[in-house]
Amino acid sequence: MKILITGASRGIGKALGEYYKNKGFEIWGIARDEGALKEVCDKYFVCDLSNIEEVSEISKKLSGVKFDMIILNAGISTPHSRDFPPIEAFKKVFDVNILSIHALLEHIDFKDSKLVFISSLASLLGAPTSLAYSASKRALNSYAESLYFAGIDAVLILPGFIKTDMTKNHTFYMPFLMDLDDATKRIVKIIEKDKFFNPFPLRFYYIIKLFTLLPNNLKRKILKKYAKSDIVE
Ligand SMILES: NC(=O)c1ccc[n+]([C@@H]2O[C@H](COP(=O)([O-])OP(=O)(O)OC[C@H]3O[C@@H](n4cnc5c(N)ncnc54)[C@H](OP(=O)(O)O)[C@@H]3O)[C@@H](O)[C@H]2O)c1
Repeated sequence: MKILITGASRGIGKALGEYYKNKGFEIWGIARDEGALKEVCDKYFVCDLSNIEEVSEISKKLSGVKFDMIILNAGISTPHSRDFPPIEAFKKVFDVNILSIHALLEHIDFKDSKLVFISSLASLLGAPTSLAYSASKRALNSYAESLYFAGIDAVLILPGFIKTDMTKNHTFYMPFLMDLDDATKRIVKIIEKDKFFNPFPLRFYYIIKLFTLLPNNLKRKILKKYAKSDIVE
């Protein structure tokens, strides 16, 4: 039983790798930090996922390998800010969060695999302080949905805030912030349930859903006041 995990070196990807390794799965990982990959993975590729040519090479190497599950987890953001991000930073977010996924899947035979996409609750709202991240994750939702409707066993997971390197420098209040351990358990349960659309924690999801029903000019006023940058303005 084989599982491929992108971003298996740290955070959610590493925690899922450890969990499934303990369950007896063979873990294949992709990330940049070789030392960290070695700790969790039986096999791994050291790769910067923003280098799409390199990702395509890995995809070709994996063309004959059958995975039971592929967890498309690696993701990055630009710093939370109302500043308009430079194109290099914006492109890198799209390369890692969405384009690398397609490049990786291109030559893999995933017809009989479960594809797990780690999106974010941030995809449900065009937050003014995460222009690139929200847009890339919304694109990911659509990508995963297309594959699901095409008959692939796809699972889309949209977590709220989790304590990992991604959030450790956030200076703003993070509602319903979860421990990595708690979030990992929830993700594992979701994967077992076999349902496509999985936001969590649900209380945060419902608040966001309710918020999205407000008139746009009111949403804008509220976000102007409460959506905070990490960068002091
Ligand atoms: N933490 C949260 O609050 C939260 C909430 C919602 C969704 N998510 C999503 O959950 C996923 C995992 O996030 P996390 O919180 O676990 O983040 P994290 O602790 O920062 O870990 C990110 C992982 O992605 C890999 N990665 C990042 N850039 C890469 C690149 N250019 N090439 C290859 N690998 C790269 C990292 O490995 P290397 O550095 O070794 O390359 C690392 O293994 C992301 O998709 C994120 O958007 C997180």
